[in-house]
Amino acid sequence: MPLSYNDVYRESIEHPEQFWADAAEKLHWYRKWDKVLDDSNPPFYRWFAGGTTNTCYNALDRHVDEGRGNDIAVIYDSPVTGTKKSFTYREFRDEVALFAGALQSRGVRKGDRVIIYMPMIPEALVAMLACARIGAIHSVVFGGFASHELAVRIDDCKPKVVVSASCGIEREKVIDYKRLLDFAIELAHFKPEMCIVRQRDQLRANLNEERDLSWKQALLGAEPAPCVPVESSDPLYILYTSGTTGKPKGVVRDNGGHMVALQWSMEHVYGVKPGEVYWAASDVGWVVGHSYIAYGPLLNGNTTIIFEGKPVGTPDPGVFWRIISEYNVSVLFTAPTAFRAIKKEDPKGSFIEKYDLSGFRTLFLAGERADPDTVKWAEEKLNVPVIDHWWQTETGWAIAANCLGIEPGAIKYGSASKAVPGYNVKVVDDEMNELGAGEMGDVVIRHPLPPGSMLTLWKADNQFVESYMSQYPGYYLTSDAGYIDEDGYIFIMSRTDDIINIAGHRLSTGAIEAELCEHPDVAESAVIGVADELKGEVPVGFLVLKSGVDTSHNLIIKHVIEYVRENIGPVASFKQAVIVKQLPKTRSGKILRGTMKKIANSQEYTMPATIDDPAVLEEIQKALQSIGYAK
Ligand code: COA
Ligand code: AMP
Repeated sequence: MPLSYNDVYRESIEHPEQFWADAAEKLHWYRKWDKVLDDSNPPFYRWFAGGTTNTCYNALDRHVDEGRGNDIAVIYDSPVTGTKKSFTYREFRDEVALFAGALQSRGVRKGDRVIIYMPMIPEALVAMLACARIGAIHSVVFGGFASHELAVRIDDCKPKVVVSASCGIEREKVIDYKRLLDFAIELAHFKPEMCIVRQRDQLRANLNEERDLSWKQALLGAEPAPCVPVESSDPLYILYTSGTTGKPKGVVRDNGGHMVALQWSMEHVYGVKPGEVYWAASDVGWVVGHSYIAYGPLLNGNTTIIFEGKPVGTPDPGVFWRIISEYNVSVLFTAPTAFRAIKKEDPKGSFIEKYDLSGFRTLFLAGERADPDTVKWAEEKLNVPVIDHWWQTETGWAIAANCLGIEPGAIKYGSASKAVPGYNVKVVDDEMNELGAGEMGDVVIRHPLPPGSMLTLWKADNQFVESYMSQYPGYYLTSDAGYIDEDGYIFIMSRTDDIINIAGHRLSTGAIEAELCEHPDVAESAVIGVADELKGEVPVGFLVLKSGVDTSHNLIIKHVIEYVRENIGPVASFKQAVIVKQLPKTRSGKILRGTMKKIANSQEYTMPATIDDPAVLEEIQKALQSIGYAK
């Protein structure tokens, strides 16, 4: 008889070492671990200590060696360029091995960093897996980030090589990636030795002879590289994510724990079997892309899809259904915002009726809270279970989900379901008392976190401890607030820090504020996330100008909007700002962002007892009304 969710969950918490050792047996190790969990230096836990493995071997070669070489590993579908292409496991392994050889021949070795700044093309995955193959550490930077953000990441991880493309295509716009890359290298203090650029016909890049090679040139004379054994806890990648300061945090992932967790999750969370087609409609620049476009499906022997398009406008709101029916997708994973975009353009779901979706089994949503209206719309129109699940860049895979591969549970709207095996989730108050059912507090996870969770922050162990592990000793702080109900269902309601979620993308208001303050006329600024029907939240900026600055024209606002776009990138979706005389603050000087947000969203608020000058809130309200909020 199959085990129940309760049995599996209990086993994972009471006997984590046995639980994860069993899962690890499914994968290939050059040398088995000495210890499943090395807990000798908390909170720096290490899974499968002493074991050696290779993630690329497990994701590609293993399937070829076990006779699945002719199965389709990767499908590339690009409505923006009119291209479709598929690769078997053997073909993809060969592409990866050759590019890995090209990197090696240019001196890239185990432990070296390689930044990948690419659009959604197969070469992005090839570059990631090639790094994994030779033990180099990749750091993928999302294409929607502009030069300054890329430069910050270059300076932090000091890559030997940057792999990029001449351009990306955003609906009908061609984005000059190479120009953004060149400018980033100009801005950065650290200079990479080499850039490898995939030339695309839509816009060919000028190459700097001393530093750049085209992808084709890089492959000339390269020999396929074999997989290099690495320690289980050697870093596989660094993925930068927004933190509470302007500086992004470099989340470090290991090899062994990561591959074990992801393979286990494919089977037990998503309920997919090897050979099935699994599609995460995201971008390789985000953690969802790392885990469920690249590694998870390939580790599990699935077909993964690289989709270079948008849910709407490429060319219509039926593109998701076209892909599902054309490739017989069993499971789709995307962000609720994608469904809000489709629902807005095709509220009746007429495009759905045009396609045969009989092979489609489940829709998974994550990246932001799945609002019940969107979930119900998707359920009704698609007639499949719609599963909201909750996770973070830091954990790398789901913390809470309805684990379809174990025992499907009832769906409660607004909840990401129950804790996934391996995660001991609690809700606590400020004094670390565990709260009862339905009581809202800080959501924390008891140590040790399961395999696959972050090892540390790149070259910042202290910051890792300070940001995540010190507020509640013995627990990981998720920085999400929420509650657990009487049935163990987890409800994630909001962030407790200054992170906002724009179209499923995580951004720091602090980082945007820092850009606003760069303007010579701005004395002080605040940014809040306000509710948006499509993107969930969008940022709105408040500017206090230096005394004597002429406010009779709107150029300052135009300029700061350009600043944010140029420096952080279009992905910040920063399009609105207002000028105010003062920001509302507590007597100790803390900006009352929470109250401002409530005013913007036309919610009830109580006048904070500590407010310095209540009249300031009236001005904030008027300013917000002038741009269509606070009605
Ligand atoms: N490279 C360059 N620019 C990019 C980019 C990339 N990879 N990704 C986004 N951008 C740009 C967009 O073109 C847009 O520019 P604009 O201001 O000139 O219009 C801007 O960044 C904002 O992008 P986005 O927030 O994605 O808005 P959008 O209007 O282009 O699309 C959605 C809205 C909802 C359709 C889209 O966000 C989406 O499909 N989201 C769901 C899937 C997802 O990505 N989830 C992430 C985690 S699971
Ligand atoms: P990221 O690190 O970009 O994946 O963003 C993680 C954050 O997104 C979480 O801390 C949550 O605030 C939010 N988030 C992700 N998934 C969900 C979900 N299913 N429900 C509610 N919030 C979510």
